[in-house]
Amino acid sequence: MFDRRNFLASLAGFAGALTLPQRLLADLAQAPGKLPDASLYEANEEAYWTELRRQFLIPEDEVYLNNGTVGSSPAPVLRAIFDGYNETEKLAETEPEDYPIWGYAAWNEFRDPLAAFLGCTRDEIAILRNATEANSYIANGLDLQPGDEVLMTDQEHPGGEGPWQLRAKRYGIVVKKVALPKPVPNAAAVLNLFSDAITPRTRVLFFSHITTVTGVVLPARELCALARSKGMLSAVDGAHVTGMMRLNLHELGCDMYTSSPHKWLQAPKGTGFLYVRDEVIDRVWSTIATEGWDARNIRAERFQRIGSSNVPVLWGLRAALQLANQIGLERIERRHRQMADYILKEMLARGVDSWTSPDPALRCAIATVNVPQFQTMEAETWLWKTKKIRIRGGAPSKIRLSTPYYLLRKDVDRFLAAFDEYRHLKHAGKL
Ligand SMILES: Cc1ncc(COP(=O)(O)O)c(C=O)c1O
Repeated sequence: MFDRRNFLASLAGFAGALTLPQRLLADLAQAPGKLPDASLYEANEEAYWTELRRQFLIPEDEVYLNNGTVGSSPAPVLRAIFDGYNETEKLAETEPEDYPIWGYAAWNEFRDPLAAFLGCTRDEIAILRNATEANSYIANGLDLQPGDEVLMTDQEHPGGEGPWQLRAKRYGIVVKKVALPKPVPNAAAVLNLFSDAITPRTRVLFFSHITTVTGVVLPARELCALARSKGMLSAVDGAHVTGMMRLNLHELGCDMYTSSPHKWLQAPKGTGFLYVRDEVIDRVWSTIATEGWDARNIRAERFQRIGSSNVPVLWGLRAALQLANQIGLERIERRHRQMADYILKEMLARGVDSWTSPDPALRCAIATVNVPQFQTMEAETWLWKTKKIRIRGGAPSKIRLSTPYYLLRKDVDRFLAAFDEYRHLKHAGKL
């Protein structure tokens, strides 16, 4: 029997599907066709960033202080992804055996700009989906015996610690942790903690370059040198670092490094990478195995042989690299630091505890504070529901504030005013 209601509902769904790309394209069309001129930066920095902010789809009345979880891909990146779909979905490659399937190719057109950005060679890079996946390759891929130890901090993300815990439970390796003070006072304190915790069974130092818990920038170069001096491997979870601050992997001297450029590089979600120093590549087994899984000659490309996957996001990754290069990473990092320092100073003036290092070398674009007697999760909901401000809370009373370059000074001021209002209402018993 003809069901009118279902018929109308299906029509509505169809119409929605037709209009969606148009709406998306309209949003994109609002973004200026070119980036602000460098001369604007010289004349008025805030005006420059305000103009650049127009490349982002985040509504103007929203304040997004949680870039540490995921970034927001701006118009040039989104356009590149759509271009990628337009091109690849035609399935019109020149050669009959060429298909735009990701998982069986070198993808040097994407690895080359990434390697140049990271200060390493293309052969040391495998493009994966995120830091979690790359960390899993490391924890699964090394030859370790039961009782061998991996030493990490107590501030690792589950996507960093989890792969090692799995290996521990299944194969008997041992996970040991150093407890980082909050805040970390200086680099020497971290080095001493690690140095004191190393035993004759320690095989790997694994740590976040920037931790998810407080955003502290750990002294990665010194920790990697410590590992090397003791004949251990160093594996660094740099999920936050790419696009937030300058990174040169060869200078850092690590054996392995992972990252999620969909955070601070504003790359598409599902773009990550694994770096393995050339001398170490042959010591790492692949986790996913398909054609080429054991082909030593293709170096780290071996780790990106993952079966068919999504190529257009790689177009987006390349565009995100290009965007960061156009703006200039030095300029981006400077802005990141300025905004984080500003928000931290203002929060400290409100009598909260700092969990952010007092040493400028150990902080960048994440400021974390603890507000005694504060119900963070409740405040997080209030800020979002009533003010359209997104923070990252942590029970019971932590606030993690990310300051990406597209965040404006007036956005920070709006957050500070809302924070004051919340505390005032709370004290007055009105919430
Ligand atoms: C230090 C660290 N490692 C790993 C991850 C996981 O990132 P992804 O979900 O992109 O794999 C995060 C996410 O916040 C993180 O902060």
